[in-house]
Amino acid sequence: MNLNNITLLVSAVREAQYPQNNLPDIALAGRSNVGKSSLINRLLRRKALARVSSSPGKTATINFYDIDRCFNLVDLPGYGFARVSKVEKEKWAKMIDEYLHRRENLAQVLLLVDIRHKPSADDVTMMNWIRENGFTPVVVATKKDKLKKSQIDGAVELIKQTLGIDSVIAFSSEKGDGADEVWATINAIISEAKV
Ligand code: GTP
Ligand code: MG
Repeated sequence: MNLNNITLLVSAVREAQYPQNNLPDIALAGRSNVGKSSLINRLLRRKALARVSSSPGKTATINFYDIDRCFNLVDLPGYGFARVSKVEKEKWAKMIDEYLHRRENLAQVLLLVDIRHKPSADDVTMMNWIRENGFTPVVVATKKDKLKKSQIDGAVELIKQTLGIDSVIAFSSEKGDGADEVWATINAIISEAKV
């Protein structure tokens, strides 16, 4: 993988539009504004491949990126954004649900949470949802650069306890912290995945 061949395959809203290839999917889930699109740009060393916005609700479709024909990186719509209509929220929930239930290529979900906050009820629901669908999510705590060094261990502990997990990758799209760990996880998943 040299990251020279990255393409947005499709922005899908339903299953029939998902790309048909035999690559494993690695999907990013998390609240709106948590930093999913920023993580994609950092990992792929692109400034503006995935659209980033300070106003939540930027990514409203399921975006499939082909990464060097090695895997599909999948940017899911963010949940938990208060200012979208109920109809819109239900549409997104259905989109995510359909993806998790039906996508055969799905190898791993990365669940992103903001390192500054206790995971929300929506995050816990997402975690359970992912588990019920047979996956063990890898949890990435974003925006590490927004905390002081002395606050990080406590913040990570709170995330672990709230979500009932053993490990969390503390990550910063701004500074690049944690990017090597996320890549190591992705590489391990790809080498085990059978699609
Ligand atoms: P939706 O598409 O709405 O679901 O949001 P998203 O999860 O894709 O978030 P996005 O990457 O668009 O980032 C939201 C905001 O947080 C933007 O203003 C980013 O610049 C900022 N942000 C994301 N990651 C980091 C980070 O690691 N550090 C800092 N300081 N800001 C970040
Ligand atoms: Mg986004």
